[in-house]
Amino acid sequence: MRTLIVSGVLIVLTALAGPARAAENTPNPTNSGQREFNAKVLVCNVCHGENGVPKSAAIPIIAGQQEQYLLKQLHDFRSGDRKFESMDWMTNTLTAAEQEPAASIVAKKSWPAKRAGGAAPAAPRGIAVCQSCHSQNYMGAQQAEGMTTPRLAGQSYEYLVESMRRFAESERTNNADMVQIMKGISAADRDAMAKYLSSL
Ligand code: HEC
Ligand code: HEC
Repeated sequence: MRTLIVSGVLIVLTALAGPARAAENTPNPTNSGQREFNAKVLVCNVCHGENGVPKSAAIPIIAGQQEQYLLKQLHDFRSGDRKFESMDWMTNTLTAAEQEPAASIVAKKSWPAKRAGGAAPAAPRGIAVCQSCHSQNYMGAQQAEGMTTPRLAGQSYEYLVESMRRFAESERTNNADMVQIMKGISAADRDAMAKYLSSL
């Protein structure tokens, strides 16, 4: 899977290195920075999906996610506060100045439509408190303290349960509250929460 995705990225990057098709009609050297930026943002689709539906369940939905949350993650990946085991290039591909416009583009896309599925499981115990930060219906929101929580509703089960495990085991430490909260929740409860959130 990973090899497939990585080779997909390489194919796109190779294509980008060739002559830009649109540019042939409108040669304008001053636009080359913009073209390069657009191309970089297109590469995100290789994994995160063209219509916002990621290529695998382990990859999070980012289309329509809270903008300030996206921006913080891009920053954290780059600074190393959040480790991104599967791909190093992402942390280096966007320059610091490109992070904000990239987050803005991604945030303005629409979150993918809910997949048709069975009945949603009942809300597991302890989940309601998550809304105190993740906002009503787990949609994420900018907090008074200037911190922005991500949308959890409809995120993939695989990604949710894995990110909760990583907080619990201090593998993801870019937010101290989440580490503390997840350490207090059993693996079984985390699993039930992830199933519920992904069904919303
Ligand atoms: C090779 C596949 C791949 C590509 C290409 C890729 N990503 Fe990702 N991205 C991932 C994976 C996998 C994760 C989950 C990382 C983890 O589990 O911590 C992720 C996580 C993220 C997150 C964190 C989301 C969250 O909910 O915390 C953001 C933001 C993000 N990517 C943005 C981007 C942007 C912007 C681009 C294009 C510049 C991009 N990604 C390109 C695979 C990719
Ligand atoms: C004190 C506020 C607070 C509470 C309460 C809270 N969270 Fe969070 N949560 C955050 C913040 C802030 C982030 C973003 C962390 C970062 O910057 O990476 C986050 C991130 C997450 C993520 C990562 C999402 C992603 O896209 O990577 C998951 C999953 C999550 N929280 C689940 C929960 C669950 C489930 C609960 C309830 C048991 C909960 N949170 C309660 C503040 C909170």
